[in-house]
Amino acid sequence: MADVVRYEKQDGVFLIIVDNPPVNALAQAVRQGIKQGVEQANADPEVKAIVVTCEGRTFIAGADIKEFGKPHQPPPLPEVIAALEQTDKPTVAALFGTALGGGLEVALGCHFRVAKADAKLGLPEVKLGILPGAGGTQRLPRVIGVEASLDMIVGGDPIGAKQALSAGLVDELVEGDVRAGAVAYAKRVVAEQRPLRKLSEASVPGNTDAVVFDAYADKIRKKKRGFEAPFACIDAVRAAVELPYAQGLAKEREIFQGLVSSTQSGAQRHVFFAEREVAKIPDVPKSTETLPVKKVAVLGAGTMGAGIAMCFASAGMGVKLLDREQGFVDKGLATIEKNYASSVKRGKLSEADKDACVARITGTTSYDDLADVDLVVEAVFEEMGIKKEVFAKLDQVCSPKAILATNTSTLDVNEIASATSRPEMVIGLHFFSPAHLMKLLEIVRGDKTSKSVIATSMKLAKQLSKIGVLVGVCHGFVGNRILYPYRREASFLVEEGATPQQVDRVITDFGLPMGPFAMGDLAGLDVGWRVRQAQGKPTDERYSGTLADRLCEMGRFGQKTGRGYYIYEEGSRVPKPDPEVADMIEAISKELGIERREISDEEILERCIYPMINEGAKILDEGIALRASDIDVVWINGYGFPIYRGGPMFYGETVGLDQVYAKVCEFRDQQGKQWEPSPLLARLAKPGAKFDQG
Ligand code: 3HC
Ligand code: NAI
Repeated sequence: MADVVRYEKQDGVFLIIVDNPPVNALAQAVRQGIKQGVEQANADPEVKAIVVTCEGRTFIAGADIKEFGKPHQPPPLPEVIAALEQTDKPTVAALFGTALGGGLEVALGCHFRVAKADAKLGLPEVKLGILPGAGGTQRLPRVIGVEASLDMIVGGDPIGAKQALSAGLVDELVEGDVRAGAVAYAKRVVAEQRPLRKLSEASVPGNTDAVVFDAYADKIRKKKRGFEAPFACIDAVRAAVELPYAQGLAKEREIFQGLVSSTQSGAQRHVFFAEREVAKIPDVPKSTETLPVKKVAVLGAGTMGAGIAMCFASAGMGVKLLDREQGFVDKGLATIEKNYASSVKRGKLSEADKDACVARITGTTSYDDLADVDLVVEAVFEEMGIKKEVFAKLDQVCSPKAILATNTSTLDVNEIASATSRPEMVIGLHFFSPAHLMKLLEIVRGDKTSKSVIATSMKLAKQLSKIGVLVGVCHGFVGNRILYPYRREASFLVEEGATPQQVDRVITDFGLPMGPFAMGDLAGLDVGWRVRQAQGKPTDERYSGTLADRLCEMGRFGQKTGRGYYIYEEGSRVPKPDPEVADMIEAISKELGIERREISDEEILERCIYPMINEGAKILDEGIALRASDIDVVWINGYGFPIYRGGPMFYGETVGLDQVYAKVCEFRDQQGKQWEPSPLLARLAKPGAKFDQG
């Protein structure tokens, strides 16, 4: 027997102990080990009860996701769980840590469940684009009813052990040693000759009315637009109500098999591993020393500075917020107060926690106050002169051990670092707006940034509940650099015959929360206008800012002025097509000598998404990102790229890199050199090629 499962006997209780670090996933050997344990216990007349538990930090956290998509090795999990349920000896699951997915399904197969008070129980399969495929959709409703099951299965978030106890999912909470508690519980069951609770034989309690399912589907339709799994989860739970157990189980299996082989699930599993891989930096091992970060300063109390200060305060750190004048400081502090108050209103934060967070932030206008901070994040105006002046000042006032970070979105971090005597302590921490809500943090490594500053920044991202992605220095880093060609092509498409609403529809149908034009209106068109004015028009390539410039010249800056690419009714954020803009577009096409044509949705999608893939490949070639999957993580967490498409690079692989390359070449021939294919994409232009082979 493989040592991932071992057995012990204590006073007639047979313990099946899973020991498969790090999270006791149900790999083939574990499934086999549990099944054999049950068989051994069944055959042993001295055994009166069985306890299933684990070594390490958690109860079984689910099926082994790495096994999905590979040939299945017996025994299947439902068979293992059936063995636990069908034995005549009482089975008790001893839960601690996170009992998730297949792990909770194993527990549901047991007749009783005891848990540590801080354990978490959940069926998160939906987040991997699948559903609980080992009886979870059939057994859970038989314990906690339909609506609570839908919340757990369709939502995918775990519940705490206390909530599970009141729902009847857990029979007893244990303080201290859960294994000892479970053994004691098992002995009590035997002594009291309690009937065994076999959930497959139970009926579903509470409201089982068919309308519940339709109402639930309606409730999630908008939020889960484009996703397949949440709706499949509802169908499976419905089967628990409408079909006898065995048929319900068969239905669950059928749906599971369909989902597990779907592109969506492949994409979501890719993202699961990508979000973990991103933390691994080849030349900065886990053992790299990190610096303490307790006191932080944020420079610039504007849009970004205020949000960044909140990130640190919410993570329990003291923050000094500095701006040029007290008036700007006060404005920043007022924004912070307002944002926290809105979290309280939405029930996301208690009044007391809000007060504690607000109290952690103090405003200042004096650099002298920054002498004792461990980290400074600069978020002043996006101008190299100002940034260098600020960094030179910081270099003088801050402790030599302090990390000096910039939130610049476009400027050269190496040049900023050169204004200090300690470029090894300088790094980019590029937050995304709204900084207190967006999960992404691009961590920009300068030529001289020290490894310990990088390791500290990666750790910091976790402390702030963000996903840190290490990137190199270039214009726009990873996220915004990919945004440019996407927006460029969207503008060209409109000059050639499409409308902003057509482009936006194609992009939202693809799964992004907003199309490029609605997004431009939201962010404000004046920002890009100022940048274009400073840069001047390119002389050697087609200019993509004609329409945006013209809108800005008319004072149409987007939502903030009620007009941009679209028109917005008073107090509304809903974009409405504007005939005036349609006329402008027609006129621009004429001026540019472009004959407008019908443009297909397919062309729009390819022209918007393929340049992202091509730019991503250039980024990889230049070593700006460590992995293609890091680029996917950036675009999913920073720009709302649909997780069920796996990110732009994974999407490119699902289309076929040879196909993408061929189209990029075709567009290069039609459109010009902005479509020049990346050498990496050219090398990978083969059927079935993957970026990590490049
Ligand atoms: N299968 C394979 N590997 C897994 C895994 C799983 N179910 N869960 C976690 N891992 C791996 C991670 O990839 C990571 O590997 P790495 O160290 O090489 O990067 C390692 O375990 C540790 O994971 P985390 O970094 O996520 O550790 P945390 O302590 O932060 O979180 C956790 C632990 C809450 C258990 C989290 O890992 C998690 O949510 N795991 C996935 C749970 C899940 O989705 N379960 C359902 C699986 S599908 C299923 O059960 C189908 C069934 O219905 C048939
Ligand atoms: P903002 O204009 O809202 O705020 C800038 C603040 O810096 C103002 O309050 C200003 O008074 C202050 N300031 C200017 N010079 C200063 C100085 N010398 N000392 C102290 N304070 C000074 O700008 P925003 O949007 O917050 O941007 C700040 C930085 O963050 C820029 O580098 C920008 O590129 C970057 N960024 C912006 C994002 C956005 O979506 N707005 C996203 C990511 C990064």
